[in-house]
Amino acid sequence: MTSRYPFSSYPSSWYRIDLARNILIGKLNLYQYFGKSLVCTRDTDGKVILQDGRTLLGNSIHYPIHEANGIVFAYHSDTPQTPDFDIPEIDEFRDPQWSKVRTINYQATSHVQEFVENAVDTGHFVTVHQMPSIPNVEKFELMGRTFAFQSVGNRKVLGFNTSMDIRVRPVGLAVIIGWTLTRMLEVRNVHCVTPINESRVQISVSYVFKKNWNPLRTFILHLILNRALYNFTSPDLPIFAEKKYIQKPMLCGKDGPIARVRHWAQQFY
Ligand SMILES: [Fe+2]
Repeated sequence: MTSRYPFSSYPSSWYRIDLARNILIGKLNLYQYFGKSLVCTRDTDGKVILQDGRTLLGNSIHYPIHEANGIVFAYHSDTPQTPDFDIPEIDEFRDPQWSKVRTINYQATSHVQEFVENAVDTGHFVTVHQMPSIPNVEKFELMGRTFAFQSVGNRKVLGFNTSMDIRVRPVGLAVIIGWTLTRMLEVRNVHCVTPINESRVQISVSYVFKKNWNPLRTFILHLILNRALYNFTSPDLPIFAEKKYIQKPMLCGKDGPIARVRHWAQQFY
């Protein structure tokens, strides 16, 4: 299957490969990403090496590697280039007042850019994610390879309306750092999308939540949050699988800054 999109399926960005702890010295890990078979290992100095499996014995190009937040990222581009930005460390991932890091993994038929567009598409939060009203855009600021976006809306939890403040900070096109705050819960997360081939993507969301004095609450949140976070985002997936990319869609004010995000995204192609 070829791409449904009028641009590359593999924009120039940092992409999550795996958790750093899964890549061990001298062990070969195999991955299917960017339409290729990739081989990853760690040398005796602890440095991660990722290369194309088919050229392993020849003059293979090593991908630029960056480790942050316990995750190994590789920089992929259709043309050789040196990355000029990094993935920032999230302090809460190493803070004892926050939970240990958990990761949810799933796949979708989609393109990496859809996830960045989706994060600012405030209109769809009502129809797709069952929020009672369209959230307000409180902040939208473009800053080179990243942007800051904040929306504040409401969500029904156990029959009660609670405010929901969502802040996202994409770093490149394939990694979105997020912060969600409701009256009952505060979550920090790294949402990563890595293309497997021209039609499928791997999604991995690593997150922590803020603990309080009650260990029972922490225990229950550990039990239910994986499922709750997946349930909040998964209604997008069947839409992504069927969606037709329209270059100049009809947008209205409540749709969020999708057009400006698309313009920002062009720098990665
Ligand atoms: Fe969505």
